[in-house]
Amino acid sequence: MKTKNLNVVNNKLQLGKYPLESLASKYGTPLYVYDQLGIESKMDIFEDAFRSSKFKTCLVYASKAFLAPYFCNILNNRSWYQDATSIGDIYVMLESGFDASRIVYHGNNKKDSELEFAVKCGVGRIVVDNINELNRLIKICQKLNQKVDTLFRVNPGIEAHTHYYIQTSLLSSKFGESIFDLDLIKKIVEVYKHNEYVSLKGFHSHIGSQISDEKSFVENAKVMCEFTSNVSSLCNYPLTELNLGGGFGIKYLENDPDVNLKHMLSSIIETVEASGLSLEKLYIEPGRSVVGDSGLTLYTASYVKKTYGGKNYLFVDGGMTDNIRPALYNAAYTVENASNVSGEKDLKVDVVGRCCESGDIVAKDTYINDVKENDCIVVYSTGAYCHSMSSNYNSMLKPAVIFVDDDIHVVSRREELSDLMKLYEK
Ligand code: LLP
Repeated sequence: MKTKNLNVVNNKLQLGKYPLESLASKYGTPLYVYDQLGIESKMDIFEDAFRSSKFKTCLVYASKAFLAPYFCNILNNRSWYQDATSIGDIYVMLESGFDASRIVYHGNNKKDSELEFAVKCGVGRIVVDNINELNRLIKICQKLNQKVDTLFRVNPGIEAHTHYYIQTSLLSSKFGESIFDLDLIKKIVEVYKHNEYVSLKGFHSHIGSQISDEKSFVENAKVMCEFTSNVSSLCNYPLTELNLGGGFGIKYLENDPDVNLKHMLSSIIETVEASGLSLEKLYIEPGRSVVGDSGLTLYTASYVKKTYGGKNYLFVDGGMTDNIRPALYNAAYTVENASNVSGEKDLKVDVVGRCCESGDIVAKDTYINDVKENDCIVVYSTGAYCHSMSSNYNSMLKPAVIFVDDDIHVVSRREELSDLMKLYEK
């Protein structure tokens, strides 16, 4: 939905003091624009509501939602942690000056070379996915004579109401080991007990993404606290940390359910405090909810094609290469004409891109007002999983990324044709 620092001046949209049209013409379209004040006020909510007097709380930003050195600096300055899904993520974070001890390294199939890289970099926590990975990690630490602290990923089997592709806690999900397989869990703790290099600080779970229902998060917290204290007493092993993952939903459409983030976070804290589990550290890993609704994409409209079959298409100069989510998850977005806000939205169109694919859709069956050639079209809530999932399909160029507060910060320049040749041998 519309980010809160957007306003209408002379029938045109502007972010703070900058008209969207002028950002589009200065930096080119498509263009990813982030409302920095919007992101920072989201971060404030997390910092205020996710606190406890009983244990330390750690906010781990899930960088897969959007990763850029400029934002790494903001996170670093506010002492947030970051989750990395690959050594590529770790590399970008370290190159940005992000503190390695605040990196939490994930992945269900890390290679030996990647584990070695992470151990050598001194990442704060490695989240181990399975017993095979644990045994390999121990060997690597022995070889390097280096110790490492880990969390172990488990699957609490909590069904969350979201798209199948972003559910991660079905009994058949590929991530972690099931909390119901206690024999395996005991075996894993034994492996930890009998080596001096890799220590187990606690468990990690993540139930899925774009979840608006508070109940699933509370259930996850309850189940994980119970599981942690059972395993701790069953195996006589101290477990002092718990990571409950991310997944907090945002609003994409007017009719999407409201998400009371503050309430969700306080409920999680209350649930963990009430469980009686004695913890030193509780982590969560929000991605989408930090950046998603403070980002938007600008496109330039070219033409409304009215087909013989009756369907109307609004052609814009981007599409599935800068936003794969409609094609991949049937995701829906709110679209507006930033050059002409007023007027009845009475034209039903599919907003589509330029790729050689019928699925190259930015917004399906959406309503828009009168659009003229070269109008600036804005798509809201594209701050998460759009830039990070962008591609060069059809040799399309990746858009620039700017952050806007009182000033404009170019976070990533627009790709140029010459960038397309950088990997090829001639
Ligand atoms: N922690 C772990 C271990 C995760 O796997 C994820 C997301 C998160 C945290 C952050 O979840 P968030 O707070 O952003 O919901 N590409 C999909 C989303 C995939 C999410 C993958 N894991 C999309 O565009 O909807």
